[in-house]
Amino acid sequence: MPPITAIGSAPWTRDELVAALPEFAELYQHRPIPENRGGMGAPHMFAIWFILKKLQPRVIIESGVWLGQGTWFFERACPHAQLHCIDINLERIRYRSKKAIYHDRDFSRIDWTALPRRETLLFFDDHQNAHERVKTAHWFGFSHLVFEDNYPPGQGDCYSLKQVLAHSGFKRNFGRPKGIKGRIGQGLAKIRESLRPSAGVVAPNSHDAAHFLEQVAVYQELPPVFKLPTTRWGGRWDDPAVGTPPPLLETVRYPWQQVYLDEAGSYTWLCYLQLRHG
Ligand SMILES: C[S@@+](CC[C@H](N)C(=O)[O-])C[C@H]1O[C@@H](n2cnc3c(N)ncnc32)[C@H](O)[C@@H]1O
Repeated sequence: MPPITAIGSAPWTRDELVAALPEFAELYQHRPIPENRGGMGAPHMFAIWFILKKLQPRVIIESGVWLGQGTWFFERACPHAQLHCIDINLERIRYRSKKAIYHDRDFSRIDWTALPRRETLLFFDDHQNAHERVKTAHWFGFSHLVFEDNYPPGQGDCYSLKQVLAHSGFKRNFGRPKGIKGRIGQGLAKIRESLRPSAGVVAPNSHDAAHFLEQVAVYQELPPVFKLPTTRWGGRWDDPAVGTPPPLLETVRYPWQQVYLDEAGSYTWLCYLQLRHG
């Protein structure tokens, strides 16, 4: 089965994406956290900034704030939007928005019924089961969703929509440990993992995809800005199990493009969704 990278039409064009690259590269130079280790790099920050600028939602819900770099870009893309920022650990935030409302409870445990839900965009970078997130968002009546870390089959630390569509299920891939320290570290990581209910194993199946396809009107994987020779796990981009839209740029022709190439390794098939209602 060839991988699905798009369903329905995107509310933007590829030309619009390419045309926005220089503006974002300039803005990226002013980011508050120059080294956002553990968070998004230029290709994905560009993608979510672009989507927000294009769609101009009235409300943005960000789940998975980390140091707060995303929040800063969201404010720049949508200066008039109301912002809700969720993280189970708010202690690490380095950029704190003055106008955002911060929550330290899971997205599914907050009452969102007072929001204009069809005019709200949800951004998930919280490494939770994406299929469960879609079901909860649909139940609340939300329409616009973006997921970072949309891992291909066999990779990542949570069940992704790419895996749902591939019928692959999910099992954490810990790779091969190196030496005694590596084996101890991996043993501890496996114990920690078993304590995370939302990151649990999902057996390969087709019913999750069938259910997802009933709820989704648009699913669009954002293209990488540059494609590196291999994926971040060393595999081939043209692996039939992966499927990647063509990159926006082929070579670095101008200095401002370099940052997209330098951070190209952080690409993980970020996707935009529009859910159906009624
Ligand atoms: C990869 S980081 C987010 C990076 C951030 N979006 C950025 O680009 O800078 C993942 C974050 O998700 C948070 N997290 C984990 N479980 C969560 C949950 N259930 N709800 C919200 N955030 C959660 C972690 O504390 C961590 O800060």
